[in-house]
Amino acid sequence: MWDEKYATEEYVYGTEPTGFLRARAEYLIPGARALAVADGEGRNSVYLAQQGLNVTAMDGSTVALDKARRLAAARDVEVGYHHGDITCWDWRPDAYDLVVAVFIQFLDPAARAKVFEGMKRTLAPGGVLLLHGYRPEQLDYATGGPPNADFMYTEQLLTSSFADLEILRLKGYDTEIHEGTGHAGMSALIDLVARKPA
Ligand SMILES: C[S@@+](CC[C@H](N)C(=O)[O-])C[C@H]1O[C@@H](n2cnc3c(N)ncnc32)[C@H](O)[C@@H]1O
Repeated sequence: MWDEKYATEEYVYGTEPTGFLRARAEYLIPGARALAVADGEGRNSVYLAQQGLNVTAMDGSTVALDKARRLAAARDVEVGYHHGDITCWDWRPDAYDLVVAVFIQFLDPAARAKVFEGMKRTLAPGGVLLLHGYRPEQLDYATGGPPNADFMYTEQLLTSSFADLEILRLKGYDTEIHEGTGHAGMSALIDLVARKPA
């Protein structure tokens, strides 16, 4: 399904990073080891590399990864791209200073819980998780994301899922976004920034 969605010259979610990532500049530390999960066509991983981070990215779509590699080459940055299924990803313990998870809402609650645990495991002590997605109210806007309320994030869900991390920011809000044709219009969003205890 994702390969078909991405089988077009256009970048479905655009080539610019999500505004959430731009706004979190204080966590984008040059030289830091970053993992971008379900990174798609590379807009976020390429931006991280442009900020000087040492970036690894993964996605389940080979079509998306090809586009990501082209974007990285066009922007003259290096990113280590990997094809994989996030539900069986090897979450190496304490491996990354930053984990970036932007619009990864294709997971049912059980799979999501395992992925959240994996992201925590792979963060190094003191490392930061940047998670950005939709709230259930997005179903009314229908401007992006899956049509499943269960796949969305609430403040309560993220508070309980990341109770073992220090939550530095947790904010739900509505705003207009324009990220290619994939995310376009008024959107019900939520941001999480959380640090693994040192
Ligand atoms: C909504 S897109 C977001 C892409 C990117 N994070 C962004 O914001 O531009 C969701 C991405 O998840 C990927 N994906 C879906 N299922 C996956 C899986 N089981 N393992 C890894 N990636 C998956 C898709 O290929 C797609 O690129």
